[in-house]
Amino acid sequence: MSVDNRWALSRRGVIKGGAALAAATTVPTGWAIAQAKPLKVGLMLPYSGTFAKLGENITFAIELLIAEKGGKLGGREIQIVKLDDESKPENAPQNADRLVKRDGVDVIIGTVHSGVQMGIHKVVSESGTLTIVPNAGSVAVTRNLCVKNVFRTSFTNWQPAYGMGLAAAKKGYKKAVWVTWDYGAGAESGAGFKEGFEKGGGEVLPSLVLPFPQTNFQPLLAQIPGLGVDVVGSFFAGGGAVQFVKEYAAAGLKAPLCGSGFLTEGTLEAQGAAADGIETGLHYGDGLDNPKNNAFRKAFKDKAGRDADVYAVQGYDSAQLLAVGLEAVQGKIEDEANLYKAMRGAKIDSPRGSISISPSQEVVQNIYLRKVEGGLNKVIGIAAENLADPGTGCKLT
Ligand code: PHB
Repeated sequence: MSVDNRWALSRRGVIKGGAALAAATTVPTGWAIAQAKPLKVGLMLPYSGTFAKLGENITFAIELLIAEKGGKLGGREIQIVKLDDESKPENAPQNADRLVKRDGVDVIIGTVHSGVQMGIHKVVSESGTLTIVPNAGSVAVTRNLCVKNVFRTSFTNWQPAYGMGLAAAKKGYKKAVWVTWDYGAGAESGAGFKEGFEKGGGEVLPSLVLPFPQTNFQPLLAQIPGLGVDVVGSFFAGGGAVQFVKEYAAAGLKAPLCGSGFLTEGTLEAQGAAADGIETGLHYGDGLDNPKNNAFRKAFKDKAGRDADVYAVQGYDSAQLLAVGLEAVQGKIEDEANLYKAMRGAKIDSPRGSISISPSQEVVQNIYLRKVEGGLNKVIGIAAENLADPGTGCKLT
């Protein structure tokens, strides 16, 4: 019997009167039994390696939102299944396949690394598993390879870097170079920075790169003085960002460092004075004074024992978006049409400010300009207001 037929049976029962009503309410229907089963949510995230802390913060925040909702979303108990993807793209398709086929998850929330995301994307584009991306910015996921079952609550690699490029040009810098890891996120953020910087009249030299997740920065830093640039833009994150910022400061270079906000996000304690004055573009920052952010930061600190950062916000919003969808279909995840409709139309009260979902199922959001001061990424302006990724090549509209 199909799920829809079961619905019809119990609905007919209600209409037919008392006895049928009693039967419909006391004998669990197939649908009711299905609803009583916990909904399995697979967290495919890095819990080891240079992005381990990012994965942990995303996880804490997802668990926080679920706990705030009493352990249930849309009436369904949530069961979490965790998988450490180690930020290794070569293992990603196999890992995602394991979650879908062996663990039988209903939803995947993952991941952080753009290359790993592409592996997940291949699997879930075929299986149709609902997937929410809580960080990885790989543009193809919500551009030419977009699919109706994949949503993103974070950013595209283009968004923060494009905002930073605009802001750097506005400050009067004319010549820049982008320094980064040689993988999707590094290249796509470099392209975003170049687009923004050139729009403001600047010139960007070919990027300086090293393989992910290496941290042998000295050969790159040694090239910078000879390039004659007046600003250096950069994408690094997690443990790699901590080390890069420290070595950049120690090198005593004249050109100021800027970048996608991940460069100084969740890393300031470890970077110390080396990060002072660095300006970055990101969809979150310290000192955003709205009630949701204030409540979230307190609850996160109570749970995690450390301050929230953008990764925590993205994890929280992934769970918020899932809640919107499941509440609209009362936990009946098979009701794809209504589930996706609700998620596409979601207006989410995020700690970053209110956000909506673009036609390519990506976040429309402000890119803030931040400056490191006193151990904080202080918001000093808006680099790009309500910025949507162009979603080029996505036909979901
Ligand atoms: C990515 O690989 O897309 C990525 C990783 C870490 C970040 C941001 C983007 O902080």
